[in-house]
Amino acid sequence: MCGIVAYIGNRQAYPILIKGLKRLEYRGYDSSGVALLNDKNLNIYKKKGKVDELVAFAEQFDTTSTIGIGHTRWATHGEPNDKNAHPHFSGDSNLTIVHNGIIENYDILKTALEQQGHVFKSDTDTEVLIHLIEEIQRSENLSIEEAVRVALTKVVGAYAIVVLDEKEPDKIVAARKSSPLVVGIGENEFFLASDATPIIEYTKKVTYLNDEEVAVVHRDGTFQIKNIQNENLEPSFQYLDMQIELLEKGGYDYFMLKEIFQQPQTISDCMRGRLNANEGWTTLGSVENNIEKFLNADRIIFVACGTSWHAGLVAEYLFEELARIPVEVEYASEFRYRNPVLTEKDIVIAISQSGETADTLAAIELAKERGAFVYGVVNVVGSSIARATDSGSYIHAGPEIGVASTKAFTGQLTLLTMMALNLAYRKGTISQDYYRQMVVEFSTIPTKIEETLKYNDKIEFIAEQIKDSTNALYLGRGYNFPVALEGALKLKEISYIHAEGYPAAEMKHGPIALIDEMMPVIVIATNKSAYEKIVSNIQEVKARKGFVIAIVTEGDKHIQKMADFVIEIPEVEEIFSPLVSSIPLQLLSYHIAVMRECNVDQPRNLAKSVTVE
Ligand code: AGP
Ligand code: GLU
Repeated sequence: MCGIVAYIGNRQAYPILIKGLKRLEYRGYDSSGVALLNDKNLNIYKKKGKVDELVAFAEQFDTTSTIGIGHTRWATHGEPNDKNAHPHFSGDSNLTIVHNGIIENYDILKTALEQQGHVFKSDTDTEVLIHLIEEIQRSENLSIEEAVRVALTKVVGAYAIVVLDEKEPDKIVAARKSSPLVVGIGENEFFLASDATPIIEYTKKVTYLNDEEVAVVHRDGTFQIKNIQNENLEPSFQYLDMQIELLEKGGYDYFMLKEIFQQPQTISDCMRGRLNANEGWTTLGSVENNIEKFLNADRIIFVACGTSWHAGLVAEYLFEELARIPVEVEYASEFRYRNPVLTEKDIVIAISQSGETADTLAAIELAKERGAFVYGVVNVVGSSIARATDSGSYIHAGPEIGVASTKAFTGQLTLLTMMALNLAYRKGTISQDYYRQMVVEFSTIPTKIEETLKYNDKIEFIAEQIKDSTNALYLGRGYNFPVALEGALKLKEISYIHAEGYPAAEMKHGPIALIDEMMPVIVIATNKSAYEKIVSNIQEVKARKGFVIAIVTEGDKHIQKMADFVIEIPEVEEIFSPLVSSIPLQLLSYHIAVMRECNVDQPRNLAKSVTVE
């Protein structure tokens, strides 16, 4: 993962780098650092911990400079400490690099370089790359951009890199493969970053580097892009459409809370122009453009990771029940390595908030190689997955900064539900009446989420009761089984409480042994179809003195009598229930994490986009 930012121009680079790194901190926050070039002096300041610690450390130094690079790290090779923080120097300290990704053959390269006399100061794969560049530059007498290009032909792995050369203070060299890098183009100035958030307030004109491309940006405002085979390329420009306010907390204590409360809006945004309750239809342009493929598909295979995988599981229920299309849901990381059987009549749908998840990207490449039609359900506009897929739809949830995914999850569910309803109607597996009725009901979901958010204080009170637990169990059935998995993931990632999600009926096949008075059991008990069965599951937990928190339909007095606490949510059709039942679980985890004084937006060991395998 890691966040990269760089600047060259007439302004002071340091404040731009720091502000950019803070925006990118969601990508990694083990350590951070900057390299600044002033009067042919290259200085690196770097520190373990968050960007604020770097700022405090750098106060003692002169940070004057109009060219610099910065990095916020999520360690893959070498523990998070000052020494392994980026930027890294070359052996003679003339060159410096920041890197996002993994150099897979770093070990072989390192041994060869050591035999040539190179001495390494860190444990990272990145430092090997800058020594390799240095070695090539020296032995072949090349410019920095040529040395970078040649070095990259010898590298296996993933990278977004930015390199500075003390001897060439008027240029920055950057390159990418499988890790994102965007170049912002201003008036005689350039901004480079892992995503557009550090760039947006300076310029809207950008170009996204493609795999195996090397860019050189110059202080005089000119730039060139080549591929690593040394062919000149014509850049294509895009214009950013992003509001700065969306990148700020807007009065909330944490981004996660802001994002939870944004959901009525983000879901409406996702539906806009795609769902018409008055006329009773829902449509997606990109599905329409490929309608024959969808209607004739033998199978849909969802590939994703983490929360996005949970959205895929909900989609399995939706697509099979409504559109009668056989569905498989795969962890992208498993799919890509297990030689899957695919045909041209399979549709692979990749789901990703960031659009940068390395395993999901690799699964897409594999599916394309095997002839499947690949569709993306993505949040970040212009991201690698959005560009790698044959077609797709954006969920339009806006930037999601909290590492724990919330509004992206409900955005994914919204989009996938629209898709399932539309395809079901087109295939004739649901009647027109039912279709219209569902579209109307679906359009009320933002209001129902609004109503659910009003229970925030009660949820905070319940959080207080279980905040000191060491374990928690989440149970759900049918459409709400994936919600149980998602609830458990939310709790563990931000509060560090061990939690497991289970299909409620599976509890008696093992997890029931864990239940005692210390074990909170959160049961999603809104399903109409299996209501009695869930009631029995609650009783089984209570009989073993478990502490039951039940998510129930408003007015459900029956479960209220059995459970220790209930959280009511408005009544909705079962096919839409994950959209509403996931809200109280998000709030519950949020409050527990705050009470445990955890860093809600940046939980330990995690990063927002996982651009390494
Ligand atoms: C969600 O809360 C997680 N932090 C994580 O599981 C995430 O959903 C996963 O890494 C997939 O990311 P993506 O949607 O950006 O591909
Ligand atoms: N591999 C580099 C390191 O460990 C970069 C890590 C990353 O991009 O995740 O420092």
